[in-house]
Amino acid sequence: MTLVGSDEARTAPTLGDVLEIRGGHPLRGQVDVKGAKNLATKAMVASLLGETPSTLRDVPEIRDVEVVRSLLEVHGVSVSEGDEPGSLVLDPALAKSAGFEEIDAHAGSSRIPILFCGPLLHLLGQAFIPDLGGCRIGDRPIDFHLDALRNFGAIVDKQPNGIRLSAPEGLHGANIELPYPSVGATEQVLLTAVRAKGVTELRNAAIEPEIMDLIGVLQKMGAIISYEPNRVIFIEGVDELHGYDHRSLFDRNEAASWACAALATDGEIFVKGARQYEMLTFLNVFRKVGGSFDITDEGIWFRRATTPLKPVMVETDVHPGFMTDWQQPLIVALTQAGGVSIVHETVYENRLGFTAALNQMGADIVVHPKGLEGVYRRVERRELEQAAVITGPTPLTGADIVVPDLRGGYAYVIAALAAEGTSRVSNVGIIRRGYEKFFDKLTALGADFDVVG
Ligand code: EPU
Repeated sequence: MTLVGSDEARTAPTLGDVLEIRGGHPLRGQVDVKGAKNLATKAMVASLLGETPSTLRDVPEIRDVEVVRSLLEVHGVSVSEGDEPGSLVLDPALAKSAGFEEIDAHAGSSRIPILFCGPLLHLLGQAFIPDLGGCRIGDRPIDFHLDALRNFGAIVDKQPNGIRLSAPEGLHGANIELPYPSVGATEQVLLTAVRAKGVTELRNAAIEPEIMDLIGVLQKMGAIISYEPNRVIFIEGVDELHGYDHRSLFDRNEAASWACAALATDGEIFVKGARQYEMLTFLNVFRKVGGSFDITDEGIWFRRATTPLKPVMVETDVHPGFMTDWQQPLIVALTQAGGVSIVHETVYENRLGFTAALNQMGADIVVHPKGLEGVYRRVERRELEQAAVITGPTPLTGADIVVPDLRGGYAYVIAALAAEGTSRVSNVGIIRRGYEKFFDKLTALGADFDVVG
């Protein structure tokens, strides 16, 4: 290892985008997982709704947090370090409309800005949202968001560079049924309904643990939210909310990623901060595939129990199903399973493209772009479904690969670490959008790599 400086020092755009990885060694050691990317960023947006400052704890040091922080700041929210490392104090006392240029500077950087709509409409009566970014894993439309906002009484005006919203009459409670239990659209409804006049009924809501944690944040702020069986959420709008003090839920996607890294490299990793309850579905699959784990109060140990690993059939799904963000590192491990595994991707329409590079490294993965007819499926087949058929075990060998998106990129690094020989992995900056102190953690686990560009 010839790394210089801390992980933070490597965030300069010219350095930290290309790794040379010498694989074939097990990853062993401990990594800490902090707050979930997919909760912390939403809780930061929620701070806009409070009359007093909020404190968020265990905020991960990742690019998505920086984007949301910066967007809050251009709207006049003061963001400062809190009373312990990793905590942020968010004070919306001087919140204001932001200029087009300041907002537009955030275009294409993340999908979170769409969640500013409701809070800004309550606060300022208007909002402008730049064109969104996020991983290129399908169309990722925002029609559910905009339809929900219209239901609350917002006027939505799509413009060439973004979306302008206004609510001259204020926002009122709404009766909304989502066409699909979308995580983002459910958050949109929650963040808008809590301050809307009257009651909102949301049917077919997403119920991911990150959403439950956001509901917890909003309840701490004074919101009245109840949920019922069958994905129904009721929100009674209130006139005023105050700040919160909240420790973010741990990042179960990151925890699952390191667990798969232990499987794929035949190593042993203790993921400090990981908890069983939010990972039940993942742990079942981990066990079936031939992994073993020990759960402690501080975290979870992950390791391989059998070699070769065992093939499985998995369908990604909304919670409590197997998360779409877990399939990419799992597929790397499945290249080392003895037999045929099938992974059905049912949430996004284009999230198996990353497998092409694994084939370049020696894997045998066939992607069926329209899914597999006639194969038993637990959940109803979706129009946009694809399937990956993975036949193993196949030895992996090093290759030159370019990271396509966050989770696919993490999978590439793991594949390179499991492979014999040297790999050159480019565009690694995307991975650090969602994985805190990524290089430091690889180093702590004994990975043999250099930052070469
Ligand atoms: N969808 C629509 N219209 C909409 C919204 C969603 O058709 O208005 C579709 C999407 O195209 C997709 C499906 O609904 O096919 C599910 O999308 P969802 O809205 O649930 O996803 P999201 O809120 O955009 C979040 C996470 C994703 C995670 C998904 C699913 C954040 C910032 N992102 O995305 O995380 O995969 O939920 O759990 O919370 C990641 O962390 O790498 C990541 C992509």
